Amino acid sequence: MSIHLADLVRTIPDFPKAGIQFRDITTLLADGEGFRTLIDELAAIARPLDPDLVVGIEARGFILGAAIALAIGKGFVPVRKAGKLPGVTVGIDYVLEYGTDRLELHRGQVPNGSRVILVDDLIATGGTAIAAAQLLREQGADVLMALFAIDLPDLGGRAALEAEGVAARAILT
Ligand code: PRP
Ligand code: ADE
Repeated sequence: MSIHLADLVRTIPDFPKAGIQFRDITTLLADGEGFRTLIDELAAIARPLDPDLVVGIEARGFILGAAIALAIGKGFVPVRKAGKLPGVTVGIDYVLEYGTDRLELHRGQVPNGSRVILVDDLIATGGTAIAAAQLLREQGADVLMALFAIDLPDLGGRAALEAEGVAARAILT
């Protein structure tokens, strides 16, 4: 019988603040068959697009993005929260479901004209992914697709991202 990935995601109420139903993928990652199945499914979407790079968003996008990059034989580039990258950075401020933040990228690591796939664990309001896609486009990248393990459709993020012209797919809703 095939594994049911949704059963491996844990929901934690009121984290990190009251009213947020936090979808926790650590339980899925800790299940070897579940983790492999998730990466196989995401890599199967990414591979035919033949990107130059896979870009992952801190923090959980690093886990999935790096695994997808390895699976399809491409390089991985991290988009990090402010002040974490040691080199010269380019950045963008954005609004989150539960606060505000800033994303940064090492200047020159996504060359002009690169064809990239953006990866994160989850899309909620879409603020993070839209900001990351904008930052990548400002570097001259073509964002072929954004990939997520989980889409929370009630929050409209995937539709908002697609309205910005970025195709988006998620394995679970
Ligand atoms: C979570 C998640 C996405 C973002 C989605 O990250 O991993 O990056 O929120 O929300 P949005 O679609 O409303 O922007 P979080 O900000 O909790 O950071 P973390 O991964 O570093 O814990
Ligand atoms: N990021 C933004 N909203 C989230 C949620 N509900 N669960 C996990 N990560 C999130």
